Amino acid sequence: MDSVLGRVLVVVPTYNERDNLPGIVARVRSAVPDAHVLVADDNSPDGTGAVADGLAEADDHVHVLHRPGKQGLGAAYIAGFRWGLDEGYEVLVEMDADGSHQPEELPKLLQAVADGADLAIGSRWVPGGKVVNWPGRREMLSRGANMYSRMMLGLPVRDSTAGFRAYRAATLRKIDLSGVESQGYCFQIDLTLRTVRAGLRVAEVPITFVDRTVGVSKMDRSVMTEAMWRITRWGVAGAPQRFKRGRGA
Ligand code: GDD
Ligand code: MN
Repeated sequence: MDSVLGRVLVVVPTYNERDNLPGIVARVRSAVPDAHVLVADDNSPDGTGAVADGLAEADDHVHVLHRPGKQGLGAAYIAGFRWGLDEGYEVLVEMDADGSHQPEELPKLLQAVADGADLAIGSRWVPGGKVVNWPGRREMLSRGANMYSRMMLGLPVRDSTAGFRAYRAATLRKIDLSGVESQGYCFQIDLTLRTVRAGLRVAEVPITFVDRTVGVSKMDRSVMTEAMWRITRWGVAGAPQRFKRGRGA
């Protein structure tokens, strides 16, 4: 697969994931041995950064980006992507550190990119996609956010909040990362919207999302509030354009 796709970088953002990180890195390394891993840590108080340094010392396929403090999932990914683009990686993958995204499913995502997708999304809400052990209120929140995004933004995607994805480097170069303001989880919707609006190809690949068993989610009210107002704003800003298209103009 490496020959078709070129160099693959799996970016793993971390905030207090000390007990999850070694296991997830080991699983990525055995599922896709040629891929490199970049841990983007926001100076986790639990010492995840030092754990990451230890992994990087032992394995030349593991790298660490130390950031000064908690600035949100989106900001960590943008910093990680920039690092990866500068280093010349050709495919950039997003993956959580907590085991919700199973590294064993990564080859499926990479295959979708090899087959022509500019962005491959590991989707919970297409046929064959599943969630395991997720509390009912999280499922409602995810389905609600996806419904609102489809309605406001006209996104032709079932799981635009998904955090398990593979981007071609060319996709990230085209969608202008410097214009991204999303700090939190709405970063996922933001980049989906940019990719679709750029006329690029999005493929959704069914995955099984497994809720974490170690540590806690960093989803909080501010993450939800940011998502809500940004989706609304993007929707309103894009509405005249959609209206014109709808009238056949
Ligand atoms: N560096 C950094 N900074 N990492 C962060 C931050 C931050 O501010 N916030 C969260 N993370 C890391 C976590 O440590 C974890 O590895 C990953 O980002 C996902 O965070 P979780 O807290 O486990 O997210 P979740 O399980 O609630 O949400 C998942 O599903 C959402 C959609 O329903 C994620 O995959 C989200 O990306 C996704 O939008
Ligand atoms: Mn999680």
